[in-house]
Amino acid sequence: MIEITIQEQKALFQLILDKTGIFYGKDKAYLIESKLQPLLKKHEFPSFSELYNKIISDKTRYFERELVEAVTNNETLFFRDTSPFNLLQHKIIPDLIDQKMKEPLTGKKKSIKIWSAGCSTGQEIYSIAIVLKELFLSPITFDISILGTDISNIALKSAQKGEYSELEVSRGVPEKILQKFFYKKNNLYCINDNVKEHVSFKQLNLLDPFFGLGSFDIVFCRNVAIYFTLQERKELFKKIAGIIKPGGYLIIGSSENITKLTSGFEAKRYLKTLCYRHHMS
Ligand SMILES: C[S@@+](CC[C@H](N)C(=O)[O-])C[C@H]1O[C@@H](n2cnc3c(N)ncnc32)[C@H](O)[C@@H]1O
Repeated sequence: MIEITIQEQKALFQLILDKTGIFYGKDKAYLIESKLQPLLKKHEFPSFSELYNKIISDKTRYFERELVEAVTNNETLFFRDTSPFNLLQHKIIPDLIDQKMKEPLTGKKKSIKIWSAGCSTGQEIYSIAIVLKELFLSPITFDISILGTDISNIALKSAQKGEYSELEVSRGVPEKILQKFFYKKNNLYCINDNVKEHVSFKQLNLLDPFFGLGSFDIVFCRNVAIYFTLQERKELFKKIAGIIKPGGYLIIGSSENITKLTSGFEAKRYLKTLCYRHHMS
């Protein structure tokens, strides 16, 4: 095993911060050493400095992408923490529908736009899509679109496939939902096409500007910004506030809090669950 020097740690931590927003403190040196070890081996780099130099000098950004894949944590599960999905089903979507039904008729379908920012391998976005399916919204009246974005291409490819192992579905998918919204292919559980038809995916680094994303009724940004520095968290939630429709909702992870980060939202507690509502204009 190749050891990382203090200088290499500093340089790589800064590089990871600049490229992903993920903050690795000094106490995480061992983690970086082990996460990047396979890259050194794969490319036969004799030291972490060689890897660093290659990343910063490679114009194709191939090594930068490899770094991103190595340092991101894609841990996720279906219906993670349960309560945000109950909130979505029993409060947020019903309220949103009431609000949309009060809007003047335009002859067009009423759109419901949701964004899963940092969607990892797709469990979150499919959990959202399944909740919407369970609400039987009329396809004649409503046009539902759910966008999943992530910095990791590998995670996105897997999300796009929507095929999960027995272990992955056993983490959060109730048997009834499994029967109803998945089909079995070989040893994998695959998401039904009628769920998939509402979702799309796109690679996006949340540190970059949100050009061309449009605006959303609901944004899920859970367990992504926990790895960011305070400054990056502030900037991220300010940008998110800029693309949520007035009265729309932001749902963050159960261990996260944005009250001191942005004034763009009002904290609300429904069904014992905290969420954030964008100010009505
Ligand atoms: C721990 S997973 C959370 C997945 C899901 N939201 C959930 O709560 O289960 C964090 C995801 O954020 C992504 N991520 C990390 N930094 C990012 C960035 N700067 N831009 C976009 N996605 C990022 C990672 O690739 C990873 O898939």
